[in-house]
Amino acid sequence: MDIKFEEAKTLKEKPTGALGFGKIYTDYMFIADYDADQGGWHDARIVPFGPIELSPASMVLHYAQETFEGLKAYRTKDGVIQLFRPEMNARRFMNSNERLSMPKVPEDMFIDAIKALVEVEKDWVPNEEGESLYIRPYMFATEASVGVHPATSYKFVIICSPVGAYYPEGVNPVKIWVEDEYVRATPGGTGFTKCGGNYAGSLKAQEKAEEQGYTQVLWLDGVHKKYVEEVGSMNAMFVFGNTIVTAPIDGTVLPGVTRDSIIHLLKDWGYTVEERHMPIDELMEGAKNGKLTEAFGTGTAAVISPIGELCFKGEKAVINDFKTGDLTQKLYDTLTGIQWGNVEDPFGWTQEVVRIQE
Ligand SMILES: Cc1ncc(COP(=O)(O)O)c(C=O)c1O
Repeated sequence: MDIKFEEAKTLKEKPTGALGFGKIYTDYMFIADYDADQGGWHDARIVPFGPIELSPASMVLHYAQETFEGLKAYRTKDGVIQLFRPEMNARRFMNSNERLSMPKVPEDMFIDAIKALVEVEKDWVPNEEGESLYIRPYMFATEASVGVHPATSYKFVIICSPVGAYYPEGVNPVKIWVEDEYVRATPGGTGFTKCGGNYAGSLKAQEKAEEQGYTQVLWLDGVHKKYVEEVGSMNAMFVFGNTIVTAPIDGTVLPGVTRDSIIHLLKDWGYTVEERHMPIDELMEGAKNGKLTEAFGTGTAAVISPIGELCFKGEKAVINDFKTGDLTQKLYDTLTGIQWGNVEDPFGWTQEVVRIQE
């Protein structure tokens, strides 16, 4: 793919102090256009970060043909800037686009575009403990047409944001509200995709949880409201001694890159991983009788987020005395160690983008 480069007239000041999450954007963005009548993808370019002009009739604004991804670039102490399993994001993006009747971005185009942008923005990859460059690829329908059909034109865009440690005070358990009214996904729907609509539909339950003093929602399945699925925008894992239970990837749950990596680590360490539909009653019972020893959510942003308390229909259960469990901590340390290049990467998960010469 030939990528044109348009130089910015001025560059932004790099931030100093706490970065937060997703508030600051870098100097450049990647854009490619898709037009069915021009043979598909064309005009790949890296241009100064700025507004995108759209027709008010653009189909994304009406029928929400939009998908996205999220991954990070990490700076190792040896000055290497690396990505973590970007091919998994590329494949998930293709699956999302397929479900939303959108054209696919080929895997090599997706990864080459990210690497080209991150290389241009290498000085934006932060180097403090726990910091990284969050990368947000996304695609949306631009065709100007107020009629429901798959659009014939799209934009594929990548923006980057330097982000701080998700938990500046370290990993700490959170309180989770088990949602028994609203649902996130149903079989045959779009639960396995990262489409914007999934997130718009989840906000109401998140607001409800926060009003009750809880940090996030634990989603139950959309048909029976009985089986445990995801926690907020993370996959959920439940530790019963040497067995870890997590919802299967069969259409309603997002196939998380972190989830897959943790399953690999757990199996490698000799744990049993059960991917199955677990009833909420089994989970609450385990939390109360102590068989549930640890619970946590997994995702790119926070990596691992321990669950300290569950509230289901007014009934509360505390997990592991509201403390971060040993296995949770070990998984967090190992995975972040691989991502930041401090721990050997036995699975070949990291990909070098550029090596900074001091
Ligand atoms: C709904 C949902 N589940 C799970 C995840 C975790 O996926 P990953 O580990 O690839 O970040 C995310 C975040 O991307 C998400 O939005």
